[in-house]
Amino acid sequence: MSDALILEPASTLSLDVEKVRDFIETCLTHHGALLSLKDLSDQFKMLELSQLAARAFSSDMDRIAGLVSDARVGIAGLDIPVVYNNDATRDAISGALVAMSLSQHIMPSILDNHNNTPFTMFNASNESNEALNRAGLMNISPTDILDFHSDGSIENQILSVPDYIAIYNIFINYAKRGNFYWVPTLSMPSFHDHVQSIGYHQEYLFELTPAVYGDKSMDIRSIAARRAKTSIFRQRDNHIVTFMNGTFLGRDSNGVVVKTDLLKRFQSDISNNSFRYVIKQQSRRMLFLNNANGFHARDIFEEPLEGYSTTRSYLRSVSKSAQIVGEIVEI
Ligand SMILES: [Fe+2]
Repeated sequence: MSDALILEPASTLSLDVEKVRDFIETCLTHHGALLSLKDLSDQFKMLELSQLAARAFSSDMDRIAGLVSDARVGIAGLDIPVVYNNDATRDAISGALVAMSLSQHIMPSILDNHNNTPFTMFNASNESNEALNRAGLMNISPTDILDFHSDGSIENQILSVPDYIAIYNIFINYAKRGNFYWVPTLSMPSFHDHVQSIGYHQEYLFELTPAVYGDKSMDIRSIAARRAKTSIFRQRDNHIVTFMNGTFLGRDSNGVVVKTDLLKRFQSDISNNSFRYVIKQQSRRMLFLNNANGFHARDIFEEPLEGYSTTRSYLRSVSKSAQIVGEIVEI
């Protein structure tokens, strides 16, 4: 079959458990007490930890950075081993601290609006999933299918495509967690045809996938519906950055109907690309993505485990380095 799907496993590294233990006990512990995630809002502390982590795990970090910066690959997984079998809370926090120390070496990140940390924490529960569904918000609850897209970031009403994204799953309390998928732009034979036909027009209107922040009580603290005026492609150095997020409204900012079919064809070509990387979703696994040079998607999460109020908790970091593509417009 000529159009068979090639699923290439993404390279995944696992840190050495003794090195991780040593790092936690020498760098993440102060007078015998483990740091908290909130401590990572101290930018000097965060910088120091990222430098210490880069030294402690230098060969792993070099390998990850090499895979992720190579646009032909653009994805890597990193597993943080369990260190404290008898203390799940200490183990979860120390694992997340290690993950963030490493991610901040590879991709210094923008700060979360609420916490000033270089990551945003997302907590999902069955209740919040239901609330999201009731609010009619697609694609953001763990039980929704998330089709191929690139992530955007918004700062001061400016819309950008961040170069890198890191996602660290503290835990996923679903029996069926499925896979995460990655299509490098360079693996799409038709990519340049789409660029030619869609062009570099700067005024396509998109309804962005809302940003949702989970707080400690798992409430939906804020839901920001946003509309953006943006280009889909931007030429940058020797590659083309693609913005692909949310719902294309089928018209430009002057209200003129434009290129709906071309965009649909491009989106379906990403979904039907004959090559993609695949990586299993699991707890304590961090995914690094070259967001400027590819598209990601994931399977639906199914069968929540009994007895856990929080179904998934993850940290998401967005690199400071980014390509500006558009701006937020008033609805
Ligand atoms: Fe995403």
